[in-house]
Amino acid sequence: MKLGIEDISLATTSLVLDLDEVAAAQGADPDKFRIGIGQDSMSIPAPDEDVVTLGAQAAQRVLHGQDLSAIRTVLFATESGVDQSKSAGVYMHRLLGLNPNARVIEFKQACYSGTGALQLALALVARNPEQKVLVVAADIARYDAGSSGEPTQGAAAVAMLISATPDVLAIEPVSGLYTQDIMDFWRPNYRSTAIVDGRYSIKAYLDSVKQSWRDYRAQGGHELSEFDHFCYHQPFTRQAVKGHATLAREGGVDAETRDAQLEHTLDYNRVLGNSYTASLYVGLLSLLDSSPDDLTGHRIGFFSYGSGAVGELFAGVVQPGYRTRSHRTEHRAAIDGRTPIDYARYFELHERPDDVDGGDHPRERGTTGPFRFAGVRDHGRVYEPTSAGA
Ligand code: CAA
Repeated sequence: MKLGIEDISLATTSLVLDLDEVAAAQGADPDKFRIGIGQDSMSIPAPDEDVVTLGAQAAQRVLHGQDLSAIRTVLFATESGVDQSKSAGVYMHRLLGLNPNARVIEFKQACYSGTGALQLALALVARNPEQKVLVVAADIARYDAGSSGEPTQGAAAVAMLISATPDVLAIEPVSGLYTQDIMDFWRPNYRSTAIVDGRYSIKAYLDSVKQSWRDYRAQGGHELSEFDHFCYHQPFTRQAVKGHATLAREGGVDAETRDAQLEHTLDYNRVLGNSYTASLYVGLLSLLDSSPDDLTGHRIGFFSYGSGAVGELFAGVVQPGYRTRSHRTEHRAAIDGRTPIDYARYFELHERPDDVDGGDHPRERGTTGPFRFAGVRDHGRVYEPTSAGA
């Protein structure tokens, strides 16, 4: 029985900041960002956008035409959750009118949890193949303004429908795993921006690539030359290039094969920025949407990394129906349709006080998406459809 991704789609925010604006504000050479870290721009949330609205927007597309009664599990993976107790997925469940006879859970392990949710979804479908699981990975990456992490912010959500009829990608059972307790990137409960030891986090990521690969091979996984493509968690696109150079040395493939395996997987992340849990799957969509070739039968490798740190390396094979499930036009429209803002507007949005005083805080309108966060009322978050979703 094949198990995997039946449908997959992404959403991003309504605003975008060009990294030349950040370079000017920081007094940095723009090439440090465009070439050195491999990023051109980053998605910035409008005041009424958060992981719930982004996740619901991505999920709406993969739910179109589905029998919702088959979806009895909803897994919401995020680093930027909106409540210490209630899952962001429960808010999303209502917005989407999902089956009340469902379980909904939030998953956390930095940028890794989307993969954890995907693997658990596969296990649930293996037990009940007539059921489907909705997995949503959604994040808004936030570092302090003016810090070295600032140009590596961004935002996106990816929704995946996991089932025993995987029209897009059949996922293979072998995984390479690696966990170590380290402090490379984390966010204490009292902060809305991450703390990061940047150079250490890059080294920890590369170590995790190596260790996860060795475990993958020890578990009976394929040789590196058997992969047509490789997708990486992309805090910035140069990290994927560094990761794959490390893997190519471990797996013994030549430079031509190495470069071909990464082709088309970086395009979306370069303009969206880091989307933490979603970023690996943004890389997959970049490949599926951008490659001019018929990818049917191609094997794709995936490396997922969540600081702190958990790594997982696994593989999937593209299925004949993948083009019938394509949302390429909508993805391009979402990315190209973002409104550019300048550094001053970004800074104003970035520095707005968090709603932590217990008062009511309505949010001004700004999103062009189908759902909005209307604000905090009586300590609760209020979400509503917009005219774009009506
Ligand atoms: N032209 C071209 N390249 C230039 C340049 C120029 N004018 N100026 C600098 N560069 C190059 C540098 O040589 C360097 O390249 P190498 O890494 O290949 O040596 C690159 O640009 C970056 O320069 P610096 O190291 O000097 O940059 P920095 O100190 O300002 O910080 C960073 C870079 C560490 C990535 C920082 O942006 C950061 O901390 N980001 C957040 C953490 C992060 O993303 N870590 C990734 C791994 S952890 C993870 O994956 C989880 C997660 O999502 C956070």
